[in-house]
Amino acid sequence: MIPAESYGQPSSQSPLSGRDCLTLAEFDPEEVRQILDEAVKLKALRRSRIPYGPLRGKTLAMVFQKPSNRTRVSFEVGMYNLGGHALHLTPEEIQMGQRETPSDTGRVLARYIDAIMVRTFDHGELEELAAAADVPVINGLSDLHHPCQGLADLLTLREEFGSLEGVKVAYVGDGNNVAHSLSLGCALTGARLTIAHPEGHAPTGEVVELARSLGAAPALTTYPGEAASGARAVYTDVWSSMGQEAEATERRERFAPYQVDEALMGHAAPDAIFLHCLPAHRGEEVTAGVIDGPQSRILDQAENRLHAQKALLYLLLS
Ligand code: CP
Ligand code: NVA
Repeated sequence: MIPAESYGQPSSQSPLSGRDCLTLAEFDPEEVRQILDEAVKLKALRRSRIPYGPLRGKTLAMVFQKPSNRTRVSFEVGMYNLGGHALHLTPEEIQMGQRETPSDTGRVLARYIDAIMVRTFDHGELEELAAAADVPVINGLSDLHHPCQGLADLLTLREEFGSLEGVKVAYVGDGNNVAHSLSLGCALTGARLTIAHPEGHAPTGEVVELARSLGAAPALTTYPGEAASGARAVYTDVWSSMGQEAEATERRERFAPYQVDEALMGHAAPDAIFLHCLPAHRGEEVTAGVIDGPQSRILDQAENRLHAQKALLYLLLS
């Protein structure tokens, strides 16, 4: 715990200093707890408007190969809040893997800046860039993982329930990047995750085994009601992720029984909350009644991207 007035003052090096964040599996349970604790503290500081600038003079490069609202804005505002600066690099500018290799992109950026955030398609490209860049590299979403979303999700669940240990969470829909990071995050914090997915859309076996090695594999089912039964939180995401637009029509049909609606929420605990990483498609993966209803915590969850990522930036760059 660092008192508010000491932010920006020279202090001992963070135990996470210089590390990457490509997946949540890079952290142990104690490190995840440390990031969440730091996020709570930074959230309180922001609310109390205490000026602080621990990342004064530091710059984050943000490489985007896909569109974004939350990730771009929360990282940029987060760096600004911490006294640093962020550069938004669009797909047209970087053209990673086309104009130059991910490894050259990483090595060159590392000569100018202090950390790199990357949103891309192929997780392998991110690993290649991170291996070449000798500054912290943060995954701002790849086809396989979305660890910053995972941290914000854990923060939101912890705020809601006090502790994550034993909290029953249901994820209903595609076993995608968001489901993967949620699986690893739940394994690291003791939350009990069940994923309901259509046949052929389970999380990858590799991620399930990774979650098992970190504490617990998610339970898998093809029945949404089974996952939602008694859950304290019901989570869903889009049926077609960025890059899967060509499959959208087929997926809409296949995923229709997995819509989170009022009836499915009725299987969950009476005080259950609804989560969605956003952007959302009302009438597809969730009804308007649920996502805009009293159980929804989507705005807290989106806001928590800012606080969780500030904690991550602070701990990786201090
Ligand atoms: N949840 C999330 O990552 O949102 P954006 O795609 O808008 O960044
Ligand atoms: N699974 C979604 C998450 C968007 C934040 C996607 O990859 O498009």
